[in-house]
Amino acid sequence: MVLTTFVLPAGYHRDTWRRENSRAEELAGLSFVADLTRMAEAAKLDAVFFGDCVHANSTMRGDIMMNGFYEPVTTLSALAALTTNIGLIGTISTSFTQPYNVARQMAGIDHMSGGRAGWNVVTSRDGFANFGGSGVPDPEERYDRADEHVDVVQRLWDSWSDDSILVDRASGRWLDPAGLRPIDHSGKHFKVQGPINIPRPLQGHPVLVQAGSSDIGMAFGSRIADIIYTAQPQFEGAQDFYAKMKRLVLDQGREADDVKVLPGIVPVIGDTENEAKEIADELGDMVDLASGRRQVAGDLKLEIDDIGYDEHIPEERFSEDPKMGSRYHIFRRKSVEQGMTLRELIIDRARSTGHMWFVGTAQRAADTMIEWFEAGACDGFNLNAPHNPDGLEAICTKLVPELQERGYFRTEYEGSTLRENLGLDRPAA
Ligand SMILES: Cc1cc2nc3c(=O)[nH]c(=O)nc-3n(C[C@H](O)[C@H](O)[C@H](O)COP(=O)(O)O)c2cc1C
Repeated sequence: MVLTTFVLPAGYHRDTWRRENSRAEELAGLSFVADLTRMAEAAKLDAVFFGDCVHANSTMRGDIMMNGFYEPVTTLSALAALTTNIGLIGTISTSFTQPYNVARQMAGIDHMSGGRAGWNVVTSRDGFANFGGSGVPDPEERYDRADEHVDVVQRLWDSWSDDSILVDRASGRWLDPAGLRPIDHSGKHFKVQGPINIPRPLQGHPVLVQAGSSDIGMAFGSRIADIIYTAQPQFEGAQDFYAKMKRLVLDQGREADDVKVLPGIVPVIGDTENEAKEIADELGDMVDLASGRRQVAGDLKLEIDDIGYDEHIPEERFSEDPKMGSRYHIFRRKSVEQGMTLRELIIDRARSTGHMWFVGTAQRAADTMIEWFEAGACDGFNLNAPHNPDGLEAICTKLVPELQERGYFRTEYEGSTLRENLGLDRPAA
């Protein structure tokens, strides 16, 4: 299996920073996130993954789970200096950046880390007001820009041939300038001469990650991504997504195995089933319902101040517009079809945000993960620690060893770069 972990130091389960030992005072600093990353490295995980957004909208509603405190370039650079094997994946939006900057930043992290950089390519559904925009461009427009952006970034990485560095002291030539080529790109969104001003990344291309789940998002992912993240609460949905994504990848002329599909799992691990359930109940009790109401209203862009916690959001308040995104529709189904009350929706959202929620022993979590893996529902998982640091510790010291003992996960890193550990080829320039 490929295993990465979504590092959310405040805990994937909302409001669990309230736990006594959460180290919540240290958020945004280096030592806590470095400890979490070292823990993941000791468990031989493929990579740590940092999500990102460029607005404070949910933070203003009191929700610090997905907070933007860990600006990806600074965070990954700092962690590169403190680790040796684990992959370092960060999120940068194509909607707010220029390809030349992103190409340099990711190339820099790749060099500084010895070939461990990964870029989670997102188009963003929020934050445009911080970059001179108003409203949110349509998905078509965002993905059109993303397509061109990634293409330019890759061509910039390829604008130095691999053999252009000579370091020939006798002749006094450090490089062969003939190996550097302008890209002369002139497109709809970007005009970039090139070449880039940093040698080709050690991995050729840092690993590309994508998590689109709409048709247009999946098509984009199938073209560019090495890793696909996806929120799949149910086995059947995960199998359908996996089959569809692999078909799209084959349609692109790529091998099915070139792209690793990783659904998220939020495992609450106890030494017994009862202990796990007690931990899950304790986490649920942490949820601040008033704040949860604001967050659900914000996520769903719905007016729900008049709804009691034990009432249902009326069906007619939901939009059926597919453009609202897959997470919105997961919520809509939970409310409308499964009949969850507002309280249940708040706690459900606090727990899993659309990912598989698991409560039980490490043995049973491993059973479930292996079942998904063997039945063609995934190539591994993105592990979401429900609470930190002890939630991640349980994953790393109980769940991962269980997978290792059964032969489903490495006990030593195979290579020194993230690509090597993922079993992916290094792209030629
Ligand atoms: C595990 C996971 C992590 C994601 N991380 C981010 C992120 O850090 N920043 C972001 O703006 N979007 C993030 N997304 C959202 C996706 O990029 C994507 O926009 C979303 O899944 C909806 O798909 P669509 O764009 O095809 O509608 C993430 C999605 C998943 C499943």
